[in-house]
Amino acid sequence: MHGLEVEVAGIMLKNPTMLASGIMGLSAASLRRAVRGGAGAVVAKSCSSQPREGNPNPTVIEVPPRGLLNSVGLANPGCRELAEELRKLGGEVPVIASVYGFSPEEYAENAVLMQQAGVDGVELNLSCPNVEGTVFGYREELAQEVVSEVKRRVKLPVFAKLTADAGDVVSVAKACEEAGADGITAINTLRAMSIDLTARQPVLGNRVGGLSGACLKPVALRCVYEIAEEVRIPVIGCGGISTGRDAVEFFLAGARAVQIGTAVLYRGLNVFRKVAQEIAEYLEERGYSSVGDITGMAHR
Ligand code: FUM
Repeated sequence: MHGLEVEVAGIMLKNPTMLASGIMGLSAASLRRAVRGGAGAVVAKSCSSQPREGNPNPTVIEVPPRGLLNSVGLANPGCRELAEELRKLGGEVPVIASVYGFSPEEYAENAVLMQQAGVDGVELNLSCPNVEGTVFGYREELAQEVVSEVKRRVKLPVFAKLTADAGDVVSVAKACEEAGADGITAINTLRAMSIDLTARQPVLGNRVGGLSGACLKPVALRCVYEIAEEVRIPVIGCGGISTGRDAVEFFLAGARAVQIGTAVLYRGLNVFRKVAQEIAEYLEERGYSSVGDITGMAHR
């Protein structure tokens, strides 16, 4: 398709859409389905050193319009098992592993395991709102410690996934860049909740969860815009992207690529192909030859 190839921290994507972490990312089979749906890259579910069951049910509810509230709690089979799954993926598209931990060392050990599995990059989940002790992205110095330790141990491109729940996400992004991050993913879900009027209790088993989907887009866009002003490393937009027009807004704000998660539910697994096609149409109609032509244009 017209001018869709992008490069992000040395990784070539045939189109700028990526499967966001947390959606269908626990097996080679489900990641392959996103690839068949047209994703330019896939990000696996965040994994930890030890398997983790996650939070009590209910963990996912729908928040109209086109939103989800989840408190999954980073459930995963552990990095070793997930690494075996990622090994099965045949290089059709770049594969990014997502890792988390309760210390910088644990992040780094998990990143090393993923490097050994042959992934193309590692995303550091510094921002999951559902597990205490893992949100290193709330503070500049904590985020910096994780990024430095991971960069010391792996040779792959490293992306820091941040949250707007941090007091100042732009400063955290700058701190990650200083520590050697190769890219920033902005943003993760936002802390939110829902209350059942009959039970008069929070709906989620964990009471509070992370909000994703359409309503997140203006916040995510603002974060990408402000971060892109301050860092030189690539920014990947994430939050409420479900159409080509959404994606184009993120490129204009300075994103090099976009991640899609919740929209898989509403537009199906072919959402990646559809969004890519819609981006191509936008470029063609306006006479641009590549995504790069419009990247950051809203800043000029
Ligand atoms: O709870 C979860 O598994 C969500 C993770 C995240 O938002 O990073």
